[in-house]
Amino acid sequence: MSCRPSRVQGARPRRCTHARYPMKKQLQITVDSLSRRGFMTRSAAVAGAAVATSGVHAAGSDTLRIAMVGCGDRGTRDAVVFLQSVKGVELYAMADMFQDRIDSSLAELRKSAPDKVNVPKERMFLGFDGYKKALALGEVDIVMYLTPPGFRPEHVAETVKAGKHMFLEKPGAVDAVGIRALLAAAEEADKKRLSIVVGTQQRYAPQYLDLIDLIWNGRIGDIRVLKAHWICDMVDWHFHPRRPEWSDMEWQIRCWPFFTWLSGDHLVEQLCHNIDVCNWVAKAVPVACTGLGGRQCRTGPEHGHIYDHFAVEYRYGNGLTMIALAAQMYGVTGDVCNRIEGTKGVAYVTRGGAHIEGERPWRYQGNPSSGEGEMYNALAESIREGKPINECPRLAQATMTAIAGRMSTYTGRAVQYDWALKESKEDLRPAKYELGPLPVAPVAMPGKTPLV
Ligand SMILES: NC(=O)c1ccc[n+]([C@@H]2O[C@H](COP(=O)([O-])OP(=O)(O)OC[C@H]3O[C@@H](n4cnc5c(N)ncnc54)[C@H](O)[C@@H]3O)[C@@H](O)[C@H]2O)c1
Repeated sequence: MSCRPSRVQGARPRRCTHARYPMKKQLQITVDSLSRRGFMTRSAAVAGAAVATSGVHAAGSDTLRIAMVGCGDRGTRDAVVFLQSVKGVELYAMADMFQDRIDSSLAELRKSAPDKVNVPKERMFLGFDGYKKALALGEVDIVMYLTPPGFRPEHVAETVKAGKHMFLEKPGAVDAVGIRALLAAAEEADKKRLSIVVGTQQRYAPQYLDLIDLIWNGRIGDIRVLKAHWICDMVDWHFHPRRPEWSDMEWQIRCWPFFTWLSGDHLVEQLCHNIDVCNWVAKAVPVACTGLGGRQCRTGPEHGHIYDHFAVEYRYGNGLTMIALAAQMYGVTGDVCNRIEGTKGVAYVTRGGAHIEGERPWRYQGNPSSGEGEMYNALAESIREGKPINECPRLAQATMTAIAGRMSTYTGRAVQYDWALKESKEDLRPAKYELGPLPVAPVAMPGKTPLV
């Protein structure tokens, strides 16, 4: 079946305004908006419960040394924003599967943060175990995990063992087995008083914080429906034509969003941001969900086996519902937002602003932010002050919510969150991590794909 543009009456298909911007534009937005606000105060408020300790970090100096693992597009941007936004930090080591990714990332980093990059050849590490060599460097305080999420649980567990603080990109895993491993590692991190900050940056963005405070204080009445939308045209995000010299494994890693064992599919990889916002507003996770979806644009093997659209209804068990819509399809009208419907109004929030319509309208008047600079400052501050932040459990909740939705959509079965979290045996990891043959799993088919 071919992909037909689905249009809202009267709306012209447009490029999704919240798709990943070119790096320069994103950085300008972040750094400009940060300089206009006292974000340190805000981030301290967000940091949550904390217990005072000595505040000593590995280097024993004022400089926090960072190793980045995964030197791709977003990862490079993450490192640039971290280095530009936080005082007294230095990039000290880099690890990736491939040298070309380190080279292009390093070139960008040296342009954007020239005084804060200190990565000689001997601190560049390659391959599946490269990150372990970065972990073995005693001077490293913080490890940033910027790899596809399929590797996240194992990376986090090893890093807790090594006693390093972490920044983790979202999502936290791709299956329930991974989520359980992530949660176990997070518990160990608490015992070792390690900080883990995660890439759900909207948790630090002022327009989200102000709006959600108003909602919790009754501005839209009782909350009835939560909506999480990420509808965009990013069909080919990280698509690369396969080169003859690439093994199956190399091809899949370079084109990771198209393989569920690496990305979790786009409901997990992308919509987990907006699902996280719904759980945040609800102060809960759903009890059950039912999903529908398929692939109409991604019809060939070059697009792996992921879907291109999902519609999932989540039930929180108290009359509250979340409608989660995710599409990566050509020609669609872009819609990346959260809408929260109450008995007295509707609240809207995006990375560009927030407002309420209804009995008591409101509009966010400050400078909207992505929240990224605030997020990195919160991590550095928590380490310097010896007040650990561990955001891993809430990353696990948002990711598990999305995984349950994917499980339901792929199998055609209603899925209970608790069952999936505690009982699901789904483990998407390949038998071995090796740059060699790796057959592609078939496209999931509701009614045939088993719920495990
Ligand atoms: N927070 C956000 O708004 C946001 C936005 C975009 C992407 N992301 C997340 O950032 C992460 C990275 O995305 P990206 O766009 O940079 O992808 P990318 O493909 O550009 O980069 C990923 C890098 O990781 C490397 N890599 C893969 N497996 C590895 C391993 N086992 N060890 C070491 N390196 C490995 C790859 O070679 C590549 O260079 C993903 O989890 C994605 O979901 C978050």
